[in-house]
Amino acid sequence: MTQPDWWYDDLRQVGLDFEDEGQVATYDGRQGGDAAADRALLSGLGVTRDTALADIGCGTGILACAAAGMARSVRAIDVSGAMLRTAQARARDQGLSNIAFERGGFLTFPASGDLDLIVTKNALHHLPDMWKAVALTRMRDALKPGGRLYIRDVVFNCPPDAIPRTVESWIGWMTRETGYSREDVACHVREEHTTFGWILARMITEAGFRLVSRVHDGVYGTYVAEAIA
Ligand SMILES: C[S@@+](CC[C@H](N)C(=O)[O-])C[C@H]1O[C@@H](n2cnc3c(N)ncnc32)[C@H](O)[C@@H]1O
Repeated sequence: MTQPDWWYDDLRQVGLDFEDEGQVATYDGRQGGDAAADRALLSGLGVTRDTALADIGCGTGILACAAAGMARSVRAIDVSGAMLRTAQARARDQGLSNIAFERGGFLTFPASGDLDLIVTKNALHHLPDMWKAVALTRMRDALKPGGRLYIRDVVFNCPPDAIPRTVESWIGWMTRETGYSREDVACHVREEHTTFGWILARMITEAGFRLVSRVHDGVYGTYVAEAIA
């Protein structure tokens, strides 16, 4: 796809470098992915043997592989070649044949209008806000009318004045409860593009979705939305 010269290059890494093999090799240990939890999530989202779905920003492919065991077809999409290699090895180990790996981003993946569900976890925050909104319109275009979008991501569920204490409290929690260091989380806040939950919710509806549910828990937001025909 040819884009104009002002189009954002979403293939380059911002913040934590997920093209770095060391970063990828230690990712699951730090992040704590859980295939059983992903299967429960997908089942709650109505995934069946008829479902065509995409996981954008699929990372090491835990969710995408869990989905391939339940769905008709899965597109596992990520900008990072290193992440995709790990995800591909996982799919090979599990003998999965209905999963396609695509190197691309929210702003570059082919949006063909034939998907029943798009899932994206902890990835949309890599884009600046205007481009998140553009990405949401592309995800709407990639879905069938009435198709569903599931987003879980870091979002700040607070007024702007509360950012310093919200960020410090999140850094404290991350360094206590996960394998991330203070520098990792500081880098995320400084260089990635996590936004406010109230901005993201508005972007979803402005992009042509009906918001089905929105849950804000701590520094996370979970959104289920339906593409308006
Ligand atoms: C924090 S990881 C999340 C991986 C996985 N979804 C999970 O929840 O464990 C973020 C992933 O998003 C990918 N990513 C970064 N920018 C992206 C973009 N513009 N489009 C698609 N994926 C992107 C990174 O390469 C990385 O694999």
